[in-house]
Amino acid sequence: MKTDDLSRSVQDAYKQIAKSYLKKVRSGSLDHRFIEKFLTLFVPGQKLLDIGAGTGEMSAEMVAHHQLDVCAIDFSKDMVRLAKKEHPGLRVRRMDLRKLLFPSKTFDGVFAMYSLIHIPEGDVPDALLGINRVLKPRGYVYLALQEPRHRMQKDGFYPVVYNRKINMFINLITEKEMTAYLRKAGFKIIEVSRRAPHVETEYPFTKLFIVAQKKR
Ligand SMILES: C[S@@+](CC[C@H](N)C(=O)[O-])C[C@H]1O[C@@H](n2cnc3c(N)ncnc32)[C@H](O)[C@@H]1O
Repeated sequence: MKTDDLSRSVQDAYKQIAKSYLKKVRSGSLDHRFIEKFLTLFVPGQKLLDIGAGTGEMSAEMVAHHQLDVCAIDFSKDMVRLAKKEHPGLRVRRMDLRKLLFPSKTFDGVFAMYSLIHIPEGDVPDALLGINRVLKPRGYVYLALQEPRHRMQKDGFYPVVYNRKINMFINLITEKEMTAYLRKAGFKIIEVSRRAPHVETEYPFTKLFIVAQKKR
């Protein structure tokens, strides 16, 4: 499938599940300890870019509880609309994470929670270069990713757990692959963590979390 068709299929899928996605994130996340640890790297007022912010729940939390200056982006019209409706004070823009329209060295941090999982692996190196460009020197990036649990699990279309009629493109990437891409894009690896999936409510892949820092 061509990249444009794949992007359209991801946007179409989020159009259909936007409201149920909001309900799911509001029912709680199992990732809080990883996110909270990442957020200790920042002080109030620092600038954070949330890429693939979805309905903006995490962005809103980072503003309210950590007093960060957050900008949220997402390429789905429907997710952006919902984020604006649910969080009227939040700065939200429609943008593809592969074409970041910000000046270089704008942000102290970039937060990418389960968004790079929807682009083909071939687009990952350039996406990371773009993230590196918009970060200030020594800025941090947080990635939440889906890692295959065994060799049979490959990139492809998987049914959405809470709406099995919809298939979603998921890029499955290993720690080895992603850390190599990050190093090549000018990052130093700070921390790698993972947790098992909650199979009733999540895709059946290992959740992989990587914190990396832009080199000088
Ligand atoms: C699994 S949701 C995560 C939402 C949010 N980060 C969270 O964890 O609650 C993935 C989001 O990434 C967005 N996304 C996927 N590909 C994108 C791209 N190329 N550029 C910007 N956003 C993208 C989707 O529209 C969707 O809102």
